[in-house]
Amino acid sequence: MTVNPIKLGIVGCGVISDAYLKGAARSEIVKAVAVSDMLPEAARAKAQEYGVRAETLADLLADDEISIVINLTVPAAHAEVNAAILAAGKHVYTEKPFAVTYAEAKATMDQADAAGLRVGCAPDTFLGAGHQSVRRLIDAGRIGTVTGGAATFATAGAEVWHPNPFFFYQRGGGPVLDIGCYPITQLVNCLGPVASVVAQASRPRAVRTVGSGPRAGEDIAVEVFTTYNGVLVFESGANVALTASWDVWKHGRPPIEIYGTEGTIQNPDPNFFGGPVALSQRDGAFADALMAELPFGAPNRPLRDGRQVADYRMVGVFDMAAAIATGRPHRASGALALHVMEVMESLERAAAEGRRIDLATRCERPAPVPFGPGESVFAEEPAAA
Ligand SMILES: NC(=O)c1ccc[n+]([C@@H]2O[C@H](COP(=O)([O-])OP(=O)(O)OC[C@H]3O[C@@H](n4cnc5c(N)ncnc54)[C@H](O)[C@@H]3O)[C@@H](O)[C@H]2O)c1
Repeated sequence: MTVNPIKLGIVGCGVISDAYLKGAARSEIVKAVAVSDMLPEAARAKAQEYGVRAETLADLLADDEISIVINLTVPAAHAEVNAAILAAGKHVYTEKPFAVTYAEAKATMDQADAAGLRVGCAPDTFLGAGHQSVRRLIDAGRIGTVTGGAATFATAGAEVWHPNPFFFYQRGGGPVLDIGCYPITQLVNCLGPVASVVAQASRPRAVRTVGSGPRAGEDIAVEVFTTYNGVLVFESGANVALTASWDVWKHGRPPIEIYGTEGTIQNPDPNFFGGPVALSQRDGAFADALMAELPFGAPNRPLRDGRQVADYRMVGVFDMAAAIATGRPHRASGALALHVMEVMESLERAAAEGRRIDLATRCERPAPVPFGPGESVFAEEPAAA
């Protein structure tokens, strides 16, 4: 099946906008037509580079041609910009975190539901071949009943590489909201919803230093905790440890391990789409279990350290656009992100208040990604019954 490309607008023309504009340029499902930024020169630069229009937000939202607007602004602006997009009658796909608070994210969902519009939210990395292989191994019962796991997302912090890293350390930043969403989203994709959490947190440094770009050497005031150790207890009973930290130069832990009554799975880095998947059954050796016939797993991007990774950010938008065309649910959905947002906020509250937090929300696991090459797997899926 072919679909007419759905026209996109993009708000926020910073670091991550290149991933979306490049992704749109190679897509048959979507076409980016306009960009906007509170700094008009930032929008003009991207417009020139990618052959799209630079517009004010008001003009972009008034454009009848555009049906999905992607929000790539900083976290503190997500809720306000999402509200404006929905008020203009357009579907929204927002970068993570969904919002700065659960209440803001819930308001966005309520507004969208009332207007009959879709909300999509990053991360979409769980749609990659690495994570979808893990999901299929678990669903096929290869490790029996899942009993627990451990997830570690720990780096030295964004100021090492990001030219404007202040927002990471302000309200709405911190490692749980910024990077915790990657492992938590993949865990919910594999294990279903979380029922309760506990956590402890610390802030070893009150001041950090910008490490690159024109503002290198400037102080960053740290308003948030930067190391969290938490436990997620899933509705299924699985008991999973989570470390999210910006105080770690190096570690030797796998990004995610999932333990079952019959074996163990090692899940690749949920910041990217592919990577090694290892399965061991009972006390057998780990063996490669990546399903290479799943899409979005081939390395396509070099990292600063020269490693090649699979990075297909934008796949969540392809899936949402195809889902709108056929009327089926999309996978990187607002409902999934709202639950993950509540998990993240609850980890922060559990640490701040020193107690267990029971979650109010639940969500369905998204449908697995079909086997096949590239974004056409989404366009070929049947409509909802
Ligand atoms: N940089 C990354 O690798 C990366 C990866 C994944 C996700 N993200 C997420 O993407 C979002 C953007 O990150 P970034 O690194 O591109 O940030 P950035 O600071 O480089 O860019 C943000 C842009 O949004 C614009 N902006 C801010 N508020 C606005 C508003 N109210 N209206 C219009 N424009 C506004 C800014 O002028 C800026 O150009 C964040 O939520 C971040 O968590 C970033």
